[in-house]
Amino acid sequence: MIAVVGSFNLDVVTAVPRHPVPGETVAGGDIVHHSGGKGANQAVAASRLGGRVAMVGRIGDDDAGATLVRSVREQGVDTTHVAVTPATATGRAQIAIDPAGENTIIVSPGANAHVSAADCADAADVLAGARVTLLQQEVPDEANHAAARLSSGTVIYNPAPMSRESTVPDGVDLLVPNRTELAALTGSPVPETLDEVAAAARTLVGVGAVVVTLGSDGALVVEGGATTHVPALPVRPVDTTAAGDSFCGALAVALAEGRGLDGAVRWACAAAAVSTTRTGAQPSLASREEVDALLAPQV
Ligand code: RIB
Repeated sequence: MIAVVGSFNLDVVTAVPRHPVPGETVAGGDIVHHSGGKGANQAVAASRLGGRVAMVGRIGDDDAGATLVRSVREQGVDTTHVAVTPATATGRAQIAIDPAGENTIIVSPGANAHVSAADCADAADVLAGARVTLLQQEVPDEANHAAARLSSGTVIYNPAPMSRESTVPDGVDLLVPNRTELAALTGSPVPETLDEVAAAARTLVGVGAVVVTLGSDGALVVEGGATTHVPALPVRPVDTTAAGDSFCGALAVALAEGRGLDGAVRWACAAAAVSTTRTGAQPSLASREEVDALLAPQV
């Protein structure tokens, strides 16, 4: 069982020829709605890859919330611990995608801001029974800290989106930042080279291991004194939205199945690569067959 504490967002997506600079207006394409939210994306990613997944989170009392919960449930995610916050909107994310597949995202948290320590306490049996718990930064710190305390299995913390206010909960076994999130965690400039990434990750004391996601450079695993670089798989990206979520969901499944960390990261890189070849957050997430097929030439 994999437990995910996290967000639900309705993604409101527009293709743009390029991202506007402050004060600029650009004409975009038609608006498309997708199911999103980092928590829900990670839950669906893990479920689609064969994990048994339960989610803790909150939606508002609106149609968007009902649609989002229905869509994760249809993907096999247990939503027993998803609650409705009255008189509150479900979370929304305004996403712009440029022709290279790079995005900018503005999130309005809505009901996600009401996920609480008490919600996690209500799900204590799920958290205590899970082999892996996945946490991100789209819900309040108090929920993440409580979830880490209540979890008995491996706790993966994805400090996304970047926030200088959030703190890493005690009890995290595996930290999964990207380069900018690593810089926010360490208070240092964004590391460029692999050596700089490794040096920054090694300064994070008190966490079992750090896996830094590097987009087209793959991922770097820093565990104890050892550093392993896992290269990215060659794909042609059209939309990188939820690539990090795909990575985290796959990592959780691989670890829950007993793979070693390096092998789990290799599998997660493949899941992330597949997700970049399709548009949308949850619609882009990989199946197990696709991940294994992408890795097949390497084994
Ligand atoms: O990681 C991608 C997600 O970030 C999107 O689905 C959007 O909802 C934002 O939360």
